[in-house]
Amino acid sequence: MNLPDLNEARKRTDKEVLYLENDNNIKNMFDGKKYFLKTYGCQMNVHDSEEIRKYLELLGFNETEVLEESDIVVLNTCAIRENAHDKVFGYLGRCKHLKKEKPELIIAIGGCMSQEENVVNEIKSKHPYVDIVFGTHNINELPKLIVNAKGSLDIEVYSNEGNVFENVLYSRDSKIKAWVNIMYGCDKFCTYCIVPYTRGKQRSRKIDKILEEVVELKNAGYKEITLLGQNVNAYGKDLNDNSSFSKLLEETAKIGIERIRFVTSHPWDFTDEMIEVIAKYDNIMPYIHLPLQSGSSKILKLMGRRYTKQDYLDLYNKIKNKVPNCAITTDIIVGFPNETEEDFNETLDVVNACKYDGAYTFIYSPREGTPASKIKDSVDLKTKEERLYKLNELVNKYSLEANKNYEGKNVKVLVEGINEKDSNKTFGYTETMKLVNISGGKDYIGQIVDVKITDAKSFSLDGEIVELR
Ligand code: 5AD
Ligand code: SF4
Repeated sequence: MNLPDLNEARKRTDKEVLYLENDNNIKNMFDGKKYFLKTYGCQMNVHDSEEIRKYLELLGFNETEVLEESDIVVLNTCAIRENAHDKVFGYLGRCKHLKKEKPELIIAIGGCMSQEENVVNEIKSKHPYVDIVFGTHNINELPKLIVNAKGSLDIEVYSNEGNVFENVLYSRDSKIKAWVNIMYGCDKFCTYCIVPYTRGKQRSRKIDKILEEVVELKNAGYKEITLLGQNVNAYGKDLNDNSSFSKLLEETAKIGIERIRFVTSHPWDFTDEMIEVIAKYDNIMPYIHLPLQSGSSKILKLMGRRYTKQDYLDLYNKIKNKVPNCAITTDIIVGFPNETEEDFNETLDVVNACKYDGAYTFIYSPREGTPASKIKDSVDLKTKEERLYKLNELVNKYSLEANKNYEGKNVKVLVEGINEKDSNKTFGYTETMKLVNISGGKDYIGQIVDVKITDAKSFSLDGEIVELR
């Protein structure tokens, strides 16, 4: 069947719901069939999966969490480290097995791995049972690819120069908090990172469109939004209309939605105006994810990060001084090529100075096509693993310390839902992004309430609702 081009439909219609919702030939075509959607990687992928889910549901599929029950499997993949690749190819093995028993099963692969030429070649040569490969720039083509799936491999992946689409449809995971894309891609080209190659150059959405989406979400009852981009501080730099992240953040705050968050911030573009806006508005949450990557200025230079250890510490102190009680988390890579013991100790030094609320730590993974992957590395894996272990011990010590400060205090928590492990409990997050497991609280789901913290662990807090008299 020939379907109208969704890109064209998007240009023609503005507010109007896209052709999928209007075309009865396609809508509900797969009624009664089931989809299994698996998402790997970062928040960007999680949000992209909300778009994928919408298309699957418009086609009539219902979600299943059991792979074996599905009629279509969609894997939304991540390429950031080698182990992400391995996981997907491992999972594909299960799908291949299932397809032997169920030949009509459709297998679709999207996300960052699809944007890598070597991966697409590997799928072509070793996994021809895959039906569809679609990229991060043309998720909107998925319905067309599914309807036309012929049982042979169909690869539709666009190059890096993606468009900026507006009025994208999403089937959002939550009715309480929502992701809002403010930009796509990244121009920073840190030497270890594959993202600028898989997600393309930076493209910011127009400020009016972003604000419109936030207003819609507020009117729909959402309590929290997270402005999403690979490097949100650089928002607007590609628009040439004086847009900036601080301006966007301020305009978003004025809309009056209860909670605003943003990820991810690069220490390089973090302006004083941004810090002022964060400090000024109560509905901008005092929580910043500020990736350090390394504490050694020498390694930072090799990583192409464009700040030194001292620049980072100065920024950290400025934020802590201007935004009281601001929680700060980070990302750290150990074992960048030729990282010496002294370099690694500089990283520990910064961790000791910043006493992070939390940190995501990784062993460097060479990514084909990136400049760092060409550097000959003299450090063995065992040394890298030992460094990671040592770093994690320190990071966890500070997470626990930061959490212990909450014991006995009352904090505001947005209650999100029932606790998965214990149905007598609910869970939510503090303004500073601490996960709180709450005794009871079912009547408060979707509300921001005062919670008294009774116990602190390394990665979560326990608490009980404070009943206001
Ligand atoms: N190897 C290890 N970690 C990486 N990251 C990005 N690229 C690599 C890589 N090649 C980490 C960075 C980034 C986080 C999302 O993933 O710390 O901030
Ligand atoms: Fe990758 Fe650096 Fe861009 Fe972050 S800022 S996505 S680490 S290139």
